[in-house]
Amino acid sequence: MADINETASNLLEKISKYLEKPYNAIALGGGIALAIVLLYHTRSLFSGGFIFGPFFTFLHVGSGITWIGLLYYFNLVQIPTMPKIPPEQKPGVSKYIAPEALFWFRWSMVATVVTGAVVFFSGTAAVNFTLITGIILGLIMAFNVWFIIWPNQQKALGLVSADDDEKTKSARLAMLTSRANFVLSVPMLYCMVTARLVG
Ligand code: HEM
Repeated sequence: MADINETASNLLEKISKYLEKPYNAIALGGGIALAIVLLYHTRSLFSGGFIFGPFFTFLHVGSGITWIGLLYYFNLVQIPTMPKIPPEQKPGVSKYIAPEALFWFRWSMVATVVTGAVVFFSGTAAVNFTLITGIILGLIMAFNVWFIIWPNQQKALGLVSADDDEKTKSARLAMLTSRANFVLSVPMLYCMVTARLVG
């Protein structure tokens, strides 16, 4: 075990300037993906349709993972753990972690919808009832994020002024809407993934 740790530490320290900063790390991942495009897909790259079809599908799934990943973080980690946190430590989550997580949550949702729309209108998508059902579910979820979850979270977290009663109501509505999106994410994802494979 000590050997594995030492080998991993030696290897990772060599690229630590990329790993210490998240943006550098994602750029490194992007560089490796680009190398794969150049190695395997150069012919498709120049045949037209690659950018708005495969490449935007890749961006779409990447932003979708970020959005739904954060939705699962809220529902499986943050919301259930909040009541167990001692009151004096709660601001660590509500003032620092939650606003940052909500920032990525909202904008990855916008990126998912925009890239999904680009793929839809690119003419490369397998448009069928399964995909349309997935898109409708996805758009309902996006609406919930933009018009219900975020405005109510702003009140609950004290980013927008509200009295205590309003804060409690807003926190509950944001939680229930987030839970509804958690429910919808399962059939939405099933439709997205199987639309091309099953039809
Ligand atoms: C919210 C609105 C959304 C729209 C308008 C949309 C649109 C689309 C379109 C047009 C496709 C292409 C289907 C094809 O090429 O045949 C697709 C595929 C896909 N989407 Fe979405 N989508 C949305 C939400 C999401 C979300 C939230 C996720 C979560 C990860 C997601 C994950 C996927 C996956 C995994 C595929 C399959 C890619 C493939 O196998 O080719 N989508 N979506």
